[in-house]
Amino acid sequence: MSQPLYPSDELLTKIADKWGTPVYVYYAPQIQRQCRALKKAFAHYPTEIFYAVKANSNLSILGLLKEQGYGADVVSIGELERALAAGITAENIVYSGVGKRFEEIRRAIEVGIRSFHVESLQELKQIGALTDQLSQTARISFRINPDIDAQTLPYIATGMHGTKFGIPEGDLEMALGIYQEYSKLQLVGLSCHLGSQITESRVFRAAGERLARICESLRKKSIELEFLDLGGGLAVQYDDENVLDVEEYAKALTEPLTGTGVKLFLEPGRWLVAESGHLVTRVLYTKQTPKKEFIIVDASMTELIRPALYGAKHPVHVLGKATPTFDLSDSKALFASLAQTREGAVDIVGPVCESGDFLIQDHWMTSPHPGDLISFRVSGAYGMSMASHYNSRPLPAEVLADKDSALVIRRRQSLESLWSDEVSVGESL
Ligand SMILES: Cc1ncc(COP(=O)(O)O)c(C=O)c1O
Repeated sequence: MSQPLYPSDELLTKIADKWGTPVYVYYAPQIQRQCRALKKAFAHYPTEIFYAVKANSNLSILGLLKEQGYGADVVSIGELERALAAGITAENIVYSGVGKRFEEIRRAIEVGIRSFHVESLQELKQIGALTDQLSQTARISFRINPDIDAQTLPYIATGMHGTKFGIPEGDLEMALGIYQEYSKLQLVGLSCHLGSQITESRVFRAAGERLARICESLRKKSIELEFLDLGGGLAVQYDDENVLDVEEYAKALTEPLTGTGVKLFLEPGRWLVAESGHLVTRVLYTKQTPKKEFIIVDASMTELIRPALYGAKHPVHVLGKATPTFDLSDSKALFASLAQTREGAVDIVGPVCESGDFLIQDHWMTSPHPGDLISFRVSGAYGMSMASHYNSRPLPAEVLADKDSALVIRRRQSLESLWSDEVSVGESL
């Protein structure tokens, strides 16, 4: 397992000084490396890759993935429009999600996406009815819920009965019956997505075997498919996980498909972008309480909710000392008598008014000082895309960095835009 490529501390510090904190920095060479490695691992099998936009939906990141030849897996009209705006063509877009709305489906039919991954019998009827109404065809796959335990966190496990995702295999006959009612639907594939942050190759293999078996049973009914989409889910290392090697992952997915004659589709998100991301934050204060030492920083659960939501642990990296140009530049002198350097377990927390607002708990470190910069690594996936405005906090800036250069790809949200949709609306019933 090779180490991720990191931007230098010097570059991260320059970015923080110039554009302020908290700031997300994505390191382009790392994303490009992951893209190349994934394609190489699957080079022996006909494969098409659709990046899961939900992991990080910034237009420039989508543009970078498009340059690498990746399509997009979307789950809402917002993601669909983003992917199109980034120049990803409709035939390179697949659409998953249990709650596709009428107008979302209509737009996706109109632009001619590659496939709807259909997640319920009613959704199937809705898409069928719209194809008739619009007199346009739609390619579909059935997203199967194979009832396989992904051995991951409950909130990100999606392939078991008891979750809302997909069509149970037992309902397949009924789905085929509905499918026959609509002449403009084309069943071109099967899909499944078992969950995220999966570390066991047998889980991926089981999914491949299941879909390959269903594909054969459809062939006996004279239904020839174009693809089997095995979703995303490959884990990255945040803490001490034993993650899979990408070649091992490729083997587990492709071996069961050998001989089926169908293409493999993939929908990776996390694995492509997570390790490129650094949430850079500045220490505001430190505080010793009778039970704990707190390091209070200017990032919070509103920028990175994974620790609060899943107990996720992001690697903490203290950036080499630099001269801060921020407004508490004299804080070291100001707090000298209160901020002592000691080693021990600390909680790094944000300014949000929740005790659940922590970025890491019981983390052993030499306590930093006000003004120091800390980066939370491996935060390129499900970081900014899950950010919120809670406590009326503007969304942070995002920066795309290369070896020696950096570009703002989303400016820090202005305060006024926090309420610009609320004032002078003047609409009433
Ligand atoms: C349908 C679907 N495909 C792909 C993904 C991407 O998963 P990951 O980021 O773990 O690769 C997800 C994430 O939840 C998903 O729901």
